[in-house]
Amino acid sequence: MAEFGGAGPSVEVAGAKTATSTGKPLSVVALRKTYGDAVAVDEASMEIAAGEFVTFLGASGSGKTTTLMMIAGFCDPDSGTITVGGRDVTRLAPQKRNLGFVFQQYLLFPHMTVGENVAFPLQLRGVPKDEIRRRVGETLEMAGLSGFAGRRPRELSGGQQQRVALCRALVYRPPVILMDEPLGALDKKLRDQLQVEIKAIQQELGLTVIYVTHDQEEALVLSDRIAVMRNGRIEQFDTPRELFERPRTPFVADFLGAANFLPGRVEQQTGAHTMVRLDRSGGLLKTRRHELATGVPVKIAVQPGRLRVCAPDDGFCTGTVENATYVGSVVRAGVRVDGGDAPLLRLEVPAGRAPVTGERVGISADPDDVNLFPSEQDG
Ligand SMILES: Nc1ncnc2c1ncn2[C@@H]1O[C@H](COP(=O)(O)OP(=O)(O)OP(=O)(O)O)[C@@H](O)[C@H]1O
Ligand SMILES: [Mg+2]
Repeated sequence: MAEFGGAGPSVEVAGAKTATSTGKPLSVVALRKTYGDAVAVDEASMEIAAGEFVTFLGASGSGKTTTLMMIAGFCDPDSGTITVGGRDVTRLAPQKRNLGFVFQQYLLFPHMTVGENVAFPLQLRGVPKDEIRRRVGETLEMAGLSGFAGRRPRELSGGQQQRVALCRALVYRPPVILMDEPLGALDKKLRDQLQVEIKAIQQELGLTVIYVTHDQEEALVLSDRIAVMRNGRIEQFDTPRELFERPRTPFVADFLGAANFLPGRVEQQTGAHTMVRLDRSGGLLKTRRHELATGVPVKIAVQPGRLRVCAPDDGFCTGTVENATYVGSVVRAGVRVDGGDAPLLRLEVPAGRAPVTGERVGISADPDDVNLFPSEQDG
């Protein structure tokens, strides 16, 4: 438990050993869950390191909650293994897994005060009264709730209630805390504020967190690594930066970066670079090297913020600017590319260097910012 800093001794849960520094906090191998013919989660595997903040990100129905519920023990997998701290917990009851939970609905006990709610997990574990008082006080203070111990949940705002729920999960210092859209019921401003607080507490205590959201921005703000889920599968599990800059599938490029896609063919491999001939405009585009055979049909993917505006003769394509819109420090615009059925590229450029609607421009990109996928790769 060395990695869980903070004051006070760690608490042993009856019948369950806490994570040791030798075991990975959490690993999941080939988890699968079906409901009738429908596959909710398919071969999900991941290893999560101590102190990591990991997020499951995906559209509604992609299997985020089901995966989390299997880890928590509220849902039985058809197959696969879950280990916590090196111990196989796949068939253990939830309370024996030594995990903390925070759900979208706060699920506080309405008849208990804030202090009693937070004390509850410790009472359940037979922690001595003095120790409980001290730990509850510390935890409430950390969450900025010191003055609220005597209030009942209904006397608190939504954000305060969610903080109490967080305290209740934190108070017995579980090695891993699971959170399913814990900020989903709150307005944007409060969400932003609590995101910062959750991240600060996680870092201060070195907590290992698995968090579920369908909000890309929230995932990017909070996470060390993000598992992008799609149709029950983990499409890619990587750092936010890797997901942005090195998406492994067109789906990930689109889901996180809202990428522009253009079809073409590999024309030539030149050492560090791959040259692509674009189908419609006929322009030649240089990307970092991708191991694909000459002549293979491909689609390029570039994020709107990574496209550059240049002189018409200098780019890989030319076009006409549409709908240039000032949105703070950047301008968003479309560029109707010349040739063929004229695709529209989405562009986001610094306001100082932005073109105006109707302007004729060239479009270029740094070879390192261009991702390339075989045409038949779906997504
Ligand atoms: N108890 C159940 N019985 C039948 N199908 C289920 C059950 N629970 C989940 N599913 C199905 O499994 C799939 C994954 O659901 P899950 O709740 O994990 O999605 P999610 O990614 O959490 O979505 P959301 O963002 O909407 O919460 C969905 O197609 C869902 O309809
Ligand atoms: Mg869900």
